[in-house]
Amino acid sequence: MLFRAGTVSTLLASTLPVALGQYVRDLSSEDWTLSGRALNQTVPAQFPSQVHLDLWNAGIIDDPYLGLNDFNLRWIADANWTYTSDPIEGLLDDYDSTWLVFDGLDTFATISFCGQQIASTDNQFRQYAFDVSEALGACEADPVVSIDFGSAPNIVDAIADDPNSQTWPSGVQITYEYPNRWFMRKEQSDFGWDWGPAFAPAGPWKPAYLVQLEKTEGIYVLNTDLDIYRRGQINYLPPDQSQPWVVNASIDFLGSLPSNPSISIDVTDVDSGALLTSRILENITTSDSSITGITILDDLTPKLWWPQGLGDQNLYNVTITVEDNQKQPIAHVSKRTGFRTIFLNQRNITEAQRAQGIAPGANWHFEVNGHEFYAKGSNLIPPDCFWPRVTEDKMTRLFDAVVAGNQNMLRVWSSGAYLHDFIYDLADERGILLWSEFQFSDALYPSSSSSFLENVAAEITYNVRRVNHHPSLALWAGSNEIEVLMLLLVQEADPASYPYYVGEYESMFITLFLPLVYENTRSISYTPSSTTNGYLSINLSAPIPMAERYDNTTPGSYYGDTDHYNYDTSVAFDYGSYPVGRFANEFGFHSMPSLQTWQTALTDPQDFAFNSSVVMARNHHDPVGGLSTTNTTNSAIGMAQMTMGVLSYYPVPNIPADPTANFSAWCHATQLFQADMYKAQIQFYRRGSGMPERQLGSLYWQLEDIWQAPSWAGLEYGGRWKVLHHVARDIYQPVIVSPFWNYTTGSLEVYVTSDLWDGVSGSVNMTWFDLQGNAIPDNAGTPRQMPFSVGGLNTTRVYGTDGASLNLPDQNDAVLVLEMEGMGKRPNSDQATASESRFTHSNYVTLAWPKDLRLVDPGLEVRYQRDRGTFVVRATTGVSLYTWLDYPKGVVGYFEDNAFVLVPGEEKEVGFVVQDDPPDEGEWVRGVNVRSLWDQKGTVIHS
Ligand SMILES: *[C@@H]1O[C@H](CO)[C@@H](O)[C@H](O)[C@H]1NC(C)=O
Ligand SMILES: *[C@@H]1O[C@H](CO)[C@@H](O)[C@H](O)[C@H]1NC(C)=O
Ligand SMILES: *[C@@H]1O[C@H](CO)[C@@H](O)[C@H](O)[C@H]1NC(C)=O
Ligand SMILES: *[C@@H]1O[C@H](CO)[C@@H](O)[C@H](O)[C@H]1NC(C)=O
Ligand SMILES: *[C@@H]1O[C@H](CO)[C@@H](O)[C@H](O)[C@H]1NC(C)=O
Repeated sequence: MLFRAGTVSTLLASTLPVALGQYVRDLSSEDWTLSGRALNQTVPAQFPSQVHLDLWNAGIIDDPYLGLNDFNLRWIADANWTYTSDPIEGLLDDYDSTWLVFDGLDTFATISFCGQQIASTDNQFRQYAFDVSEALGACEADPVVSIDFGSAPNIVDAIADDPNSQTWPSGVQITYEYPNRWFMRKEQSDFGWDWGPAFAPAGPWKPAYLVQLEKTEGIYVLNTDLDIYRRGQINYLPPDQSQPWVVNASIDFLGSLPSNPSISIDVTDVDSGALLTSRILENITTSDSSITGITILDDLTPKLWWPQGLGDQNLYNVTITVEDNQKQPIAHVSKRTGFRTIFLNQRNITEAQRAQGIAPGANWHFEVNGHEFYAKGSNLIPPDCFWPRVTEDKMTRLFDAVVAGNQNMLRVWSSGAYLHDFIYDLADERGILLWSEFQFSDALYPSSSSSFLENVAAEITYNVRRVNHHPSLALWAGSNEIEVLMLLLVQEADPASYPYYVGEYESMFITLFLPLVYENTRSISYTPSSTTNGYLSINLSAPIPMAERYDNTTPGSYYGDTDHYNYDTSVAFDYGSYPVGRFANEFGFHSMPSLQTWQTALTDPQDFAFNSSVVMARNHHDPVGGLSTTNTTNSAIGMAQMTMGVLSYYPVPNIPADPTANFSAWCHATQLFQADMYKAQIQFYRRGSGMPERQLGSLYWQLEDIWQAPSWAGLEYGGRWKVLHHVARDIYQPVIVSPFWNYTTGSLEVYVTSDLWDGVSGSVNMTWFDLQGNAIPDNAGTPRQMPFSVGGLNTTRVYGTDGASLNLPDQNDAVLVLEMEGMGKRPNSDQATASESRFTHSNYVTLAWPKDLRLVDPGLEVRYQRDRGTFVVRATTGVSLYTWLDYPKGVVGYFEDNAFVLVPGEEKEVGFVVQDDPPDEGEWVRGVNVRSLWDQKGTVIHS
């Protein structure tokens, strides 16, 4: 054998595509060190890794997420760093070629092999392969790989200072902490964002390999583009579901092909292991670096892949084998995939749609396997500042929370990083559609630089091809908030240059990017910017293949998707202030994380105060706008917004005897405001599915946190659910009953909204209580039960009245409890055998703000049932609003229900899902406590 024993076994165990005559060494199996002038020493390093993580492991620095380390560790970002391998033993030199393959280098890297400089790279998102055959030939010892990483902040500043570099009108570019991020192809939020810190990490963030090819004719698979679509499918038109499936497989490789190569595929049902089909691909085309073939699966009807809640996530393995003309395999690769079409419909509203009552304009919604559906979900930001510690376990917990939250779609926001395949794999398994974006956000980019454009073109081609086989991939969007925000800022700052920048925008995000997408996938739609009014027309042979609509709109018509941020808390619950559109892709308001999560980041007891200097410094909304460590002017704006949200609507926490409890109550209060505001909007958007706007999506900002700080997230760093994630889970159920109280007119309406595809009918019970839990006489004049019947993907008004006409003795001492029960069919349940399912949902409304309610102590009790592993909560003396079960620090998991209403005498049994290393049950369950809105006023809750 050619390698020492240890290496061979690693090799055999590896899942890499390996074929005869090629040897692949995973460089993570080598020992690595990290060094740098700023360090004066060499420390052991991981691989893949980033500098901060290795310095922390070596005890040089503290946890980067503690306290003010966002500022204190800037010396790391300002320095250059070198990763060096130990001499790599066991390589032989009678190979035809030897290559270094990097799946990801962050970002400005210079690579040396055996002391020879091989190449420099400047794009975190590209895969790089370098021929080191000559360097190895000349090497007199076992070769060492070393990678120098330059300081990204210093390098982009130098680019910005170059007189040849592009400039923009002043006041347009948005800086969070480090400036000039638009000059680098590196995660933009590494330089700070309004929800995160600015560590500007560096390092080999993804795996790397040393590849040796034995023969001239032999290939190593770098990347695979597997495209599955309906025959004749065109990205921007609805696919014809009666057409057979087409499978197109395209492999990017190192090395060279023999003459007349062929490709065969096996398609296997992952569930049953049954072979669906074996095929020889037709129409083989080759280039120096790729081979492509195609087949049509006539007469085959594989099981479809469906998103969560709409059917099963049927998956198939496609094994692709490249063979020489003797039918000897020279490479193979296996991709797990699924059969589905996913289409973003942005087409003009048709006459037939008008006849259904849909307002004119254009569609903006997704269709899966030919069906419209309601997209329910949120926006995913980078789950950590340091990708090497984004493990499969961590992402599994995150995706389990997404599924538990009744979400079916996440928008993978620009500008983090293109997600790893294992993350798409998790989404494939769980049926979570991933609207994915290229990494361009809230900036104008140097689109007049041809080297910049070449660099991003390679980045996009690589990632579109890499990710395409995942059935969870739902869309490619070119950027975030460039059309809707950046062009607007240009218009304000320098109206004369507006047409020029519109041209720049179109030349990069449409003329360059659209063909890169369409040439590499027939199955995925493309939109140049996240929030837009959609397009007017598409003509692929026109110089600008997609003509955006911009403000070419007609009043009374609806177009495109909406975002909505309004920090004026006085209109937070004013339905008239919400956008009416086809799809809500961003909306939200920030809140504080819980005390338990703060306890993992703050150390000094004095820090645990709402406006302590450390809390202020960690609040990045509004963005500080530079590298200042002391300017809290902008942070104070965001802190004041949260404060106003609480003061305007909720009882003011006031626990002077216990500052920490007071801080905790304040954090919780900001979460109540946040959750209520999102709930109001989600109900409004979902109701729009049955309104003229035919609203078919709500993705709130944002799913999770990157660290412990105030933000728009529903999941705190570490996984603890904020009130928001529980409330969103509730209101994202398929069939919901929703009250709409218009406090300006006094009108009160009740709607049932369903996103099932078939009708649901049943009844809604409506019961008025005073806050002690007594029934209000004559039910305040409200019927006790109303029947309803709601069509598929529709809404129906169940009840409506003028609040003033209700017979309420005291509007501040009344709550209307709504309980819906209905029968309907789940989508894609077996039509022949499926009986209808029962759907239930409860909701409530008060015709006064929580702060004005005549709350009484509900006398909450919680006990743990050891045999059932559940908690039983009840209210004994009054109505409990926002009943909140809380659990101690150090436990990872979530209650199966929370933030609910209890009337006296009602008992609720609630399970707790432990997601990680269950601590001693006896210990932690004793730390569970329960509170409600009543306690916000001043009860000290002791854990
Ligand atoms: C490295 O040495 C320099 C100069 O002696 C010193 O300023 C710096 O603090 C040292 N760095 C570390 C991390 O010890
Ligand atoms: C980092 O490397 C660059 C390029 O070699 C050099 O110009 C710069 O001075 C270095 N910076 C530091 C802080 O050592
Ligand atoms: C499908 O592929 C995965 C990963 O390559 C493998 O673990 C699994 O066993 C395969 N299943 C079948 C049925 O071939
Ligand atoms: C292969 O190419 C021929 C000629 O262009 C075309 O008619 C045929 O449809 C192609 N086959 C597939 C599976 O696309
Ligand atoms: C859609 O409607 C607009 C008018 O709002 C029109 O200009 C455009 O050509 C139409 N697009 C298509 C593809 O018919």
